Amino acid sequence: MLPILLAANWKMQGNEKLLHDFATYFTHTPPPEHIEVVLCVPFVYLPLAQKLFKQTTIRWGAQDVSPYQPGAYTGQISAQMLSEFVCRYVIIGHSERRALCGESDNLIAEKFKRLHELKLLPILCIGETQEQRAKGETDTVIHAQLSSIIEQVGIDAFHQAVIAYEPIWAIGTGNAAKPEDVEVVHNQIYHYLAQQNEAVAETVRVIYGGSMNENNVRSLITLPSVAGGLVGGASLKLDSFSEMIIQTNRV
Ligand code: PGA
Repeated sequence: MLPILLAANWKMQGNEKLLHDFATYFTHTPPPEHIEVVLCVPFVYLPLAQKLFKQTTIRWGAQDVSPYQPGAYTGQISAQMLSEFVCRYVIIGHSERRALCGESDNLIAEKFKRLHELKLLPILCIGETQEQRAKGETDTVIHAQLSSIIEQVGIDAFHQAVIAYEPIWAIGTGNAAKPEDVEVVHNQIYHYLAQQNEAVAETVRVIYGGSMNENNVRSLITLPSVAGGLVGGASLKLDSFSEMIIQTNRV
């Protein structure tokens, strides 16, 4: 069975001290083997993360990657660079980037390709807005977000990929989606991937994101279709994040 993935998405938050605090804690309290912990920190903290965690089982990753091959792209970070810092996972397609930076499914597919070329694993975020949900369009939205990427990169590139179902209305609100609703969408995602290629679908982990914290993690992680979580706010507090690992281990 694939390990449960708990990925921290620090977004544009956190600092060196927090990273040191996490390192001190995890050096003394490694997570159990069946729980894989990943810290997706801002780019500038990747060298420090590598230094602090290389002797531990904690992995580190990035929150974005350039869709381009290395070249004259001021301000961008290539997959090669992330690979040099031994990132294993890279978040792409986060709703904040889709909304604030106007990222399209086509652009996200290019990013997916760049990661795949270097054997970096994407944490591909998908999810619907409140309005789309109210109109009953969740399934259509998820399907469209996945299918345009599958068309451009091919289903085989999804081998060992991570898909984070993040309903946009649940992100940063303190109100996570209801477990029964999460179960429905996760099953749709698995089903859709399995229709394309069952063997590949079996290697994919679908994780949930959106106000996941130490109080609700158990109710979500116990669902058969939930392979982990992408955690924003609660991952910036060591107490909360470490408690999430403890709660997950009790499942
Ligand atoms: P949140 O963020 O846990 O603060 O809701 C999750 C995310 O945006 O990845």
